[in-house]
Parts: sequence; structure tokens; C-alpha cells
Amino acid sequence: MEFTVKSGNPEKQRTACLALGVYESRRLTPAAEQFDTACGGALGNLLRRGDLEGKIGQSLLLFNLPGTLCERVLLVGCGREREVDDRRFRQIMHHAAAALNETAAAEVVIYLTDLVVKGRELNWKIRQIVEAFEEARYRSDALKSKKDAPRRFPRKIILSVPGRRELPGGERAVREGVAIAAGVKLTRDLGNLPPNLCTPAYLAEQAQTLAQEFPALRVEVLEETDLERLGMGALLAVTRGSAQPAKLIRLEYRQGPAMRKPYVLVGKGVTFDTGGISLKPGEGMDEMKFDMCGAASVLGTLRACMELQLPLNVIGLIPAVENMPGGRASRPGDIVTSLSGQTIEILNTDAEGRLILCDALTYAERDEPAAVIDIATLTGACIIALGRHPHGLFSNHPPLAHALQAAAHTAYDRVWELPLWEDYQEGLDSNFADMANVAGNRDGGAIMGACFLSRFAKKFHWAHLDIAGTAWKTGKAKGATGRPVPLLTQYLLDRAAEAEREDGRAAH
Ligand code: BES
Ligand code: MN
Ligand code: ZN
Repeated sequence: MEFTVKSGNPEKQRTACLALGVYESRRLTPAAEQFDTACGGALGNLLRRGDLEGKIGQSLLLFNLPGTLCERVLLVGCGREREVDDRRFRQIMHHAAAALNETAAAEVVIYLTDLVVKGRELNWKIRQIVEAFEEARYRSDALKSKKDAPRRFPRKIILSVPGRRELPGGERAVREGVAIAAGVKLTRDLGNLPPNLCTPAYLAEQAQTLAQEFPALRVEVLEETDLERLGMGALLAVTRGSAQPAKLIRLEYRQGPAMRKPYVLVGKGVTFDTGGISLKPGEGMDEMKFDMCGAASVLGTLRACMELQLPLNVIGLIPAVENMPGGRASRPGDIVTSLSGQTIEILNTDAEGRLILCDALTYAERDEPAAVIDIATLTGACIIALGRHPHGLFSNHPPLAHALQAAAHTAYDRVWELPLWEDYQEGLDSNFADMANVAGNRDGGAIMGACFLSRFAKKFHWAHLDIAGTAWKTGKAKGATGRPVPLLTQYLLDRAAEAEREDGRAAH
């Protein structure tokens, strides 16, 4: 799919298809109104017959309207005009994309940019349309021997803007949307792969492949012998039961001023989480192939940054392991020494994410980061606390939490902050080591996971995103979502804009 922006009247478009909005009940949006006037009220007449109320999810495909130059018109239900908010706008675009995918039109001009969304500007709508259309097109059927029926997606999507003045901004919104969508797609593809194929070694290869495509990226893969030499006893404890060798993947993208501190993204890369000796129950265990979605989102975000050529320094760190039971696996009760020197009593081998992340966080100190953000499918308790809509957000630095909340709002990839108070920390006390990897009860499980990580993030500004409820969908639509690539990319876009403002000030 190719996206472009264009200004011009709907009735003057010589194209295979126009997409126009209809509010409930049977009220045309401004662009649809203008089109209707040009075709002598044909749309209004049709609507009066009652075939389209304008509810979200409804659509109607029309051919051969008089006095116009397009082959088809797709009328898209938009719900009540005053009720169109972020969520409904996304829904409307999803339905529009699905309906367009059923037509034979190779090109479509979208006038749904004229919907009024409370608190949102044209460029936000353009970016959301690009993301929604790419999402609607996504299939994960590479491993099916009989593919779903071949679909005819429109090759060219043209987004209408009111006038020429809006073209440059619209083009930038398209570029951002396309880059984010490509990052989301990479993250979904990796997440959806089966765990027999998507191993730690495979993730390392994917990082190398990305570096071949983008010369600005440098990739380094640390092997188990390197990790032993460094002293990453916590990470190594998790991989002991697996036949798959662990990897620590380091990605470096340096396109900012050399002296400027990098942003470090740390992604949990457990390619399958059986729980280890603290074995998980069997039901739904297949979904633990998604336990590497944090890692995948680091790759996806770097991809988006590189497509946008952001003038920033960004480092990705991916501890990649498989958590298996076995004769050599770690036991509950084992005590290991982390890279930080702190000792950990492993009371539950299923709390493995924090064990690999703590060593990666300590390793991040070497980069003298401006901020470190870890992304992890860390706790089932986060799903209990927040459900499956926002990511759980924790931070030791309120301005960083605020910046992530702002980026989450802009990208419509939402977060909800949870507390990280000192009061919780004593829950991790151990009789035999500096700390235990789990608390003695199930209270505040998502917070306890974050508390554990915070002990390894004292030397920098740090935030933790618990994406257990958001990285994939369960049930009939099972599959990776590609979140939080939109949020992280927006955070970095905001940092690039901030740096530009600061440089501008310094120059004056
Ligand atoms: N990967 C899981 C967390 C998870 C579970 C994410 C279900 C999404 C859905 C993590 O490694 C884990 O097993 N966490 C334990 C922690 C507990 C032992 C303190 C959990 O959530 O039960
Ligand atoms: Mn686990
Ligand atoms: Zn896990």
C-alpha cells in the first residue's frame, strides 16, 4: 500500500473509489455534502430510502453516480457526529479499510479526514488512518499451506486534506504513520512466530538482518560465554534448563550528536516461558510464545526510528532466553549473583523476566543513558489490575513518566501509571540473599515485579512498561498487537523535537 496526501474537491477526483462519511442518522459529512451537491442530491436520495443509518460498522458501496468522475463511492458509517472520539475514529477507519479490502478498487481517495475528533488535529487523523489501514491488511498466514482467499487491497491510498497549506504537514503525518506501521508489523510478525522457530538465536539473526537493511544500525550479540565472563548470574539462571543458547543482543543506532546521551530500550525476550521448574498449568500455555514481545517491540521501534532517520542516539538491549524445566534447570531456592553484585534467591522460576532484565538493566549503565525504558510481558497480575487496554507504567523519575504519558496520548497507545512506593519493597526480603525474586503473597504482583527491577535501575532515569495485557490478543483474534511500538516511537519523536528546540535556543 502506498499512501499520499492531496487537496481537492471530491467530485473532481478521477479515481476508482472515494470514501465519504455519513453520520447517524443519515447526515453527510462536509465532503460528502459537497459531493452530493455535485451529483444532484443522489446520496441524499439514497440515504432517505433507509439503506444506511450511518452507524459505525455500516457501509454502502455505490456505482455510477451522475456528474462525478469516480467509479465508486464507499459511504462509511461514522456514528453520531458529536460522539466521534479517538476510539470511535479508529473503529470507523478499521471498518472502512475492511470494506475497501472487499472491493476491486486499486486506488481510493479518502475524505474521512473531515470527521471532527475532539481534541485531535488533521495530522493525528492522517496518522491513525495509515496505521489502521495497515493493521486491517495484516495477515499471519505464512505457515498455512492453504492461504486465506487472496485479497485485493487498494494499492494506492490518497488522503484528502482541505488545502495546499496542509500538504507538508500531511506528508509528514503519512511518513510517521508508515514508519510506525512498519515497526508494528515487524513486532507482530516476530511475536506470532511459533516458539520452535523464534528462538533466542533467531531473534539475534533478525537483529543482524535489520542491520543489513539499515547501515546506521550496529548489532552485537553476546554469547553465553560472554555473559559468564561478565557475571550475569541472574540471566544465566533462567536459560540453564533450555537446549537453546541464550543471547544478549545489543543494537546501537547513533545518529545524534556524539556527546548526547542515548535512550536505551530493554526488551524482555523469553522466546517461550514454561515457568521452568515452577511449571505453569497447561491451559493456554501456547500463549507464552508471546513472552518475547517486549524484545520484538524494541526491534520494531528501532526500525521505525531508522525509517524516520531520527537524529537521536538509541540503544536496544535484548536479553533472549527460553525458560524450560530440565535436569540442569534452576530450582526454587537457588541463590544467584546478578551482574550488579546483588544476590537473588529464586523462589519461583516462573518469575524469570525480572531475572534476565535485571542484568540487562545493570549492563545499560555502561551507556550512560539519558533514560532507560524496559518493555516486558512481566506479570499476569498486571492483566488483573488493568485489563488489556493500557500498558502498566512505572518509573523512578516523574518527568519521564509524564513524557511517556504524553507520548501515549499522542500515539493513542495508552498507559496507566501504578505506584512504586518504598512501602512495597520489604515484600521482596529474603532470609538468605539480598532479595527474593518474588514476594511471599500475590498482593500487587505487577508492582512487586517493578519493585524488583527498580533495585537495578538506581543509577539512571528509568521506566518500566508491563505489556502483559497489551502485547497480544487472546481468543478468536489471537495474535500479537505490535504495541507499544507507536508509544515508544512517539516518545522518541518527541525527544528529537525537544533536542531540535534546544539546539535552536543554543544557536541564538
Ligand atoms: N510471562 C509471565 C507473565 C504473563 C503471564 C504474561 C500471563 C502474560 C500472561 C511471567 O514470566 C510470569 O510467569 N510471571 C508470574 C510472576 C509470579 C510468579 C510472581 C505470573 O504472572 O504469574
Ligand atoms: Mn514466567
Ligand atoms: Zn515470562
